[in-house]
Amino acid sequence: MKLKFVLASALLAIGASAFAQPVVIKFSHVVAADTPKGKASEFFAKKAAELTKGAVKVEVYANSALYKDKEEMEALQIGSVQMLAPSLAKFGPLGVKEFESFDFPFMFDDFAELHKVTQGPVGAALLAKLEPKGIKGLAYWDNGFKSFSANFSIKAPADLKGKKLRIQSSKVLEEQIRSIGGIPQVMAFSEVYQALQTGVVDGTENPISNFYTQKMHEVQKHLTLTNHGYLGYAVIVNKKFWDGLAAPVRTQLEQAMKEATVYANKIAQEENDMSLEGVKKSGKTTVYAPTKEERDAFKKAMAPVHTKMADRVGKETLQMFYKETGFNPN
Ligand code: LMR
Repeated sequence: MKLKFVLASALLAIGASAFAQPVVIKFSHVVAADTPKGKASEFFAKKAAELTKGAVKVEVYANSALYKDKEEMEALQIGSVQMLAPSLAKFGPLGVKEFESFDFPFMFDDFAELHKVTQGPVGAALLAKLEPKGIKGLAYWDNGFKSFSANFSIKAPADLKGKKLRIQSSKVLEEQIRSIGGIPQVMAFSEVYQALQTGVVDGTENPISNFYTQKMHEVQKHLTLTNHGYLGYAVIVNKKFWDGLAAPVRTQLEQAMKEATVYANKIAQEENDMSLEGVKKSGKTTVYAPTKEERDAFKKAMAPVHTKMADRVGKETLQMFYKETGFNPN
């Protein structure tokens, strides 16, 4: 009798697991699949399936297929998507203004300086500030350093005077454009190509990977490698969803995210380098590498942004960034 019962329970358990539906994580993002973020999200999806043995299925939606920039953040908060990797510039409008510290011009000389923030206690403290918004921050993923493009050559800040330049929705970036006499135009990423093509804006700033994979080289004749600011991501999840996962599954997903983060930050520079080669090979955009003096002129023109916008992100946060990066605002 007892044996029969054990056998029946075992069969039931096998049957139930055979029919159990996987937990679905919709991971939405706005860039192309062949970018650092696109590739890292696919890597995460594969790892998650592997480590959870199929109990979790991550569906990646690239190129704003589900939502545009602003909408995706709202969709995450209400739980229509579970995971995103918005650029750090997109947390200001959510009310977590400290993230705009990443947008200060010339804040980081290289990835090593950046990682002192993103992979250290300052980065972790910033992610914790998302929790009251119903968001759990899991990791930072790199993209790269931004350069200016337009249909005219850009060698000095004065070349951008009076020009309409598309930026992300960050107050610090608005001030950065004003510091060189430009007119900031906030616009969703998915709309930039057309805005450049039709002349709604005169130019923009991007890491080369975004510039190339959105085919902006088709509609921009000049790209100057100013590398004047950083663009990267925070991978975030709906907190209620995350906390509701079975603990072992969450641990497996944390491991998958850890591995995806190593991968993301390893390929970011390579992807940007390959994109630069692609732009050059296209023959459609003239790529200009500014001299040290020319680049310094941008740095000097943008320096007042650091004092003007200190209150926006909070002086203490900015000081913590300076301490990590060694940036001297004076
Ligand atoms: C942008 O809007 O320019 C970026 O945030 C796009 C991205 O996700 O890299």
